[in-house]
Amino acid sequence: MSVLEVRDLVKEYRLRDGRQSRILTAVNHVSFSIETGRTVALVGQSGSGKSTLAKLLMQLEKPTSGQIILDDTPVLRRGAGLKQYRSDVQMVFQDPFASLNPYHTIAHHLGRPLILHGKASGREEVMAGVHRLLERVRLDPDMAERKPHELSGGQRQRIAIARALAPNRASS
Ligand SMILES: Nc1ncnc2c1ncn2[C@@H]1O[C@H](COP(=O)(O)OP(=O)(O)OP(=O)(O)O)[C@@H](O)[C@H]1O
Ligand SMILES: [Mg+2]
Repeated sequence: MSVLEVRDLVKEYRLRDGRQSRILTAVNHVSFSIETGRTVALVGQSGSGKSTLAKLLMQLEKPTSGQIILDDTPVLRRGAGLKQYRSDVQMVFQDPFASLNPYHTIAHHLGRPLILHGKASGREEVMAGVHRLLERVRLDPDMAERKPHELSGGQRQRIAIARALAPNRASS
């Protein structure tokens, strides 16, 4: 069973305050774990650190202290360890219009992560992978040639989910 675990995570930002600086604690000793098939919701008022925690989980920010552990292995910040982590942990953004490029087809959006993560190469293999991803989110393979504005909001969000699944081990 796969588990993503956060242990005693702290993120501090140093804020400049005139000539002085002060520390703002954005994430204050947070611990939790997420098991396969479980959904965890993080709820809190504006500025309470939700987005910062998401950035820490995505390795877009470095924690001040604490650990992120995937399947009993502390996450490495570099090299092969980080690449493997990115195949397993992906973000689906709230607004798919902001994260999908209006100039590119759905096939492009789903094909790119397959190529970048070494899941497929060559047009035929990439298109087969794109169609598999569309099936996984219950969308018609014909969607591949459309652009984001030609989809409904829910369909766009499923494209965003399919893209997040693309680097995963199960998609090759
Ligand atoms: N790069 C940064 N540098 C300094 N302070 C930051 C930075 N990013 C976030 N903060 C501060 O950290 C705190 C937590 O911000 P965060 O964006 O995580 O809140 P949030 O829970 O996502 O809020 P919201 O619900 O409004 O999106 C806030 O006080 C914010 O001003
Ligand atoms: Mg936020």
